[in-house]
Amino acid sequence: MTVDLHDFVATVEDYPEPGVSFRDISPLMGDGVAYKQAVDAIADFAKNLNVDLIAGPESRGFIVGSPLAYAMNIGFVPARKGGKLPREAVSASYTLEYGGVNELEIHKDAIKPGQRVLIVDDLLATGGTINATREIIEKLGGIVAGVAFIIELENLQGREKIMEAGEVPFLALMEY
Ligand code: PRP
Ligand code: HPA
Repeated sequence: MTVDLHDFVATVEDYPEPGVSFRDISPLMGDGVAYKQAVDAIADFAKNLNVDLIAGPESRGFIVGSPLAYAMNIGFVPARKGGKLPREAVSASYTLEYGGVNELEIHKDAIKPGQRVLIVDDLLATGGTINATREIIEKLGGIVAGVAFIIELENLQGREKIMEAGEVPFLALMEY
């Protein structure tokens, strides 16, 4: 059975501030068929990219990346928000869509030079989160094998921002 993943996205108007249409994928994650279909579609995209590791930013990137890594029989690397990792880490900062600055960190020994890493997240907005994750992976000598999202918010031009940092294979299961 195939479902239309759009039916599992809840749109919340004026959240978290007036004028924003917030796309919430909680219904997708709460449905076994839709969740598996989304993860399997990303695994299918990844199968020819020679991926060694999946990386996902805290926190919703974990919800996409962990089952994907399991399905692909490879490891998962969390990019955690600043100050949460117990051992030596490499960090990068980025600006948030609704203002403010955030920091992501990956343990220094999580990625070995030359390893090919697929970055995944639930949603691409301005691209700040993904470019920060990418910056850390590249500082560690990793190669970004591709990027994949359940949703891309097209008008925020995150895809262009990612490609400015270097062309990589790209997948978004839905565009809004
Ligand atoms: C959201 C979303 C992406 C990011 C997209 O995460 O899950 O990771 O924002 O925005 P960007 O492309 O403009 O960087 P958020 O930082 O809200 O954290 P959360 O997953 O912990 O809710
Ligand atoms: N939905 C979910 N997460 C987000 C959004 C959105 O519209 N924008 C930035 N992060």
